[in-house]
Amino acid sequence: MSLSICVIGAGIISQHHLRAIKEITGTELLAVADNDYVKAMNVAAKNGIKGYTSYKEMIVKETPDLVIITLPHFLHKEAALFSANKGCHILLEKPMALTVAECDEILHCVKDNGVKLMVAHTQHYLSENITAKEYIETHDLGPLLMINDSRFVPYFNPDRPKWFLEKRKAGGGIFMNLGTHSIDKIQWLTASTFSYVKANLHYPTSIIETDVEGSGTVYLETDMSVPVTISMSGFSGVPTQRTELIFEKGMVKVEIGKGVFINKGGKYVAVNVPDLPDPFVLQLEDMIRTIHGEKESNGNYAKSLIRIVECIYESNDQNKGLIIANR
Ligand SMILES: NC(=O)c1ccc[n+]([C@@H]2O[C@H](COP(=O)([O-])OP(=O)(O)OC[C@H]3O[C@@H](n4cnc5c(N)ncnc54)[C@H](O)[C@@H]3O)[C@@H](O)[C@H]2O)c1
Repeated sequence: MSLSICVIGAGIISQHHLRAIKEITGTELLAVADNDYVKAMNVAAKNGIKGYTSYKEMIVKETPDLVIITLPHFLHKEAALFSANKGCHILLEKPMALTVAECDEILHCVKDNGVKLMVAHTQHYLSENITAKEYIETHDLGPLLMINDSRFVPYFNPDRPKWFLEKRKAGGGIFMNLGTHSIDKIQWLTASTFSYVKANLHYPTSIIETDVEGSGTVYLETDMSVPVTISMSGFSGVPTQRTELIFEKGMVKVEIGKGVFINKGGKYVAVNVPDLPDPFVLQLEDMIRTIHGEKESNGNYAKSLIRIVECIYESNDQNKGLIIANR
């Protein structure tokens, strides 16, 4: 029997999910909902499906097996609770919700209703990251000494949806939205968890009116006491998405869009990065495995990422380092 799917939100990222659904056999795309009538109807027409302006009406009428929630962050909780209460499995875009407390509400509701939840942490499906993880796991690089992660992206360009610039709706700025990717990527690549954080964030003062941070450097330590820096800037600069892992016996550099490079003394040398299927296809396949009980839900893990982001904001506000487990 095929898995019927509805998509909630017809914005930028929904297009990737819609494409992935069509690529996977055994799925049936039913409908899309967006409270922007024009968007809902355009995306529906383009995909040959029904369009709704109310996701609640869509779920009640279509009774899908799975919903994919691609809404602004402040709506993740309410849409997840509604969907779970109607018996739908959920693929929820990252970040899971605005706060740990909201994540807990979602986790309880999903459990009570016996439905499966997966949060869309796409870093696990990018070919460069998969290649780097495999390389690290299969080569003797000696002890991991440190990690430096840099992400520069024009965060305040005019085509960014406005809700990203309101803390009430987005939960934060570049660290809530993209920092969660770096935190997730580093923990996953190194099979570790962060235990300590000290953050220094910057809020725009001149270029745009917003109450979210636009850049910062965060110092973290893993549970194995490995020091890590994550530096992010949404201001003018050269787009960069780079993670460097420094071991006793060499270095590994992962650059999204460029490749994976290793160094055992001398220059960096490129490692072959295979052409893998679309990350959103791989992600949806994992969601299907989660529904079938072949893969564990990542809900608790996704909540732990929100705890780290909460600690980043708290550390910056209090100008002191924090032990994450104590929060
Ligand atoms: N995994 C990734 O790599 C990745 C990349 C980009 C965005 N995202 C995440 O995807 C989510 C959506 O981001 P986006 O960039 O697509 O934003 P977006 O603003 O383009 O899309 C959100 C859509 O939700 C609609 N919407 C708002 N309120 C609604 C409501 N009450 N009912 C129905 N529709 C409503 C908006 O009209 C909009 O079309 C966010 O959680 C974001 O962090 C993930």
